Amino acid sequence: MRLKYRYVDMRRPKVNRLLQLRHRVAQTVRRYLDEQGFIEIETPMLTKSTPEGARDFLVPSRLNPGAFYALPQSPQLFKQMLMVAGFDRYFQIVKCFRDEDLRADRQPEFTQIDLEMSFVDRDDVFQVVEGLMAEVFRLIGVTLETPFPRIPYQEAIGRYGTDKPDLRFGMELCDIGPIAAESEFRVFRSVLERGGLVKGLCVPGGASLSRSEIDGLTRWVGNYGAKGLAWMRVTEAGPESTIAKFFTEEQLRRIQEKMGAKTGDLLLFVADVPKIVHQSLGALRNHLAERLSLIPQGEYRCAWIVDFPLFEWNEEEGRWDSMHHPFTAPHPEDLELLDTDPGKVRSLGYDLAVNGQEIWGGSIRIHRREVQEKVFRLLKLSDEEVQLRFGFFLEALQYGTPPHGGIAGGFDRLVALLAGEDSIREVIPFPKTQKGVCLVTGAPAPVSEKQLDELFIRVQLPEKSKG
Ligand code: AMO
Ligand code: AMP
Repeated sequence: MRLKYRYVDMRRPKVNRLLQLRHRVAQTVRRYLDEQGFIEIETPMLTKSTPEGARDFLVPSRLNPGAFYALPQSPQLFKQMLMVAGFDRYFQIVKCFRDEDLRADRQPEFTQIDLEMSFVDRDDVFQVVEGLMAEVFRLIGVTLETPFPRIPYQEAIGRYGTDKPDLRFGMELCDIGPIAAESEFRVFRSVLERGGLVKGLCVPGGASLSRSEIDGLTRWVGNYGAKGLAWMRVTEAGPESTIAKFFTEEQLRRIQEKMGAKTGDLLLFVADVPKIVHQSLGALRNHLAERLSLIPQGEYRCAWIVDFPLFEWNEEEGRWDSMHHPFTAPHPEDLELLDTDPGKVRSLGYDLAVNGQEIWGGSIRIHRREVQEKVFRLLKLSDEEVQLRFGFFLEALQYGTPPHGGIAGGFDRLVALLAGEDSIREVIPFPKTQKGVCLVTGAPAPVSEKQLDELFIRVQLPEKSKG
């Protein structure tokens, strides 16, 4: 109802205030970047696919029957061509379009603060964004401490189970593999023998959770693929657990010591392949912190995540995928590994995580055609496909391309964060629903036969939605 009559909903002082804040953030960003020597340049909306990992929205061309524009998933290739064109510092507050499954922090059309710079390294980009974030947070009376800490990707995954850690609370993941390996607990030992991990969380004051609450958590981590959740309550009388019998007293003591457990705490463990251990414990860490009110309110903790792998293995397709996008430069120290061990190559990509959310993401780019072509080959793109999709861009790289890099921030996410809203829908004037529908206008909607004829398009509905 609120979304259908959004124009009435917006009369509420709260909604009005949120849009005022959005305006002030936009003005602050423009002023700051202008002062830093950036110029705002618009890039096309009717364009060709820019891969950012989502599906494209397509627009049929009447003048070119059978041909389609794609709406940009980001201005990525245009901003890189602006660097070739000699604009040293570009920015834009710009709409991006991604046809993907929607969540609280995702809309099919959303706004980025997009920027790109020539002759820079990572530190230059960080400095600009840190200054910008400090300015913007001043709007809500918060002083951000800069520079922001930097955490290598592997360390973030190891300690927090995620590449967007919430640093407002502790409860870090703890590897108890070496102790579990000596125990008699078959479940843990067999996972370790197969190269898996056993890790745990120490939940402060968690011993008060009941058995049925722990069973609930066990089912919940099942959503992340965990086959079980072993637990141990730390009580005055000693550890209380169905698995305690598989451990010697000395082993139990070492586990508690390693995890920093105190009387009244609850220890939770997952044994599995690394990916499942990290995803399930990472999610559990956030979930429990929220539930047990361990998260200090009004605090903002920013961290740069660096040294991402350049690629991740796509099991289904049997090929490498880019972790960021295909234009991200490999770490210069790892260039040789491109030929021998692509999975080990680090990238010059970076994200800025704030309070457990990815707010900014970017990279230093590839500026040499040979390297760009090699990356396309590793992504198993055929020469014809590369030519068809990115030929124009590879050509541009030949015309004296400066080394360059940049970043884009989720503007809606940033405003929601400043406003203390959980969903970006609250700070978007006319947002779409979970199914991508605009309730005010009813879009998307069928069009007339005449319009379709003009576009040489015939619609074929799937069986079940006919009639
Ligand atoms: P990336 O894909 O990481 O990078 O996007 C940058 C930031 O945009 C926000 N964001 C979204 N916000 C709302 N709804 C969405 N569907 C959505 N998708 C992304 C996030 C994210 O951090 N061209 C690169 C940037 C670069 O390399 O310079 C890019 O688009 O906050
Ligand atoms: P079981 O031996 O299957 O009865 O399991 C004993 C305890 O270990 C239960 O609390 C299970 O939830 C837990 N458990 C089983 N598999 C795993 C696993 N892969 N990781 C962590 N705990 C597990």
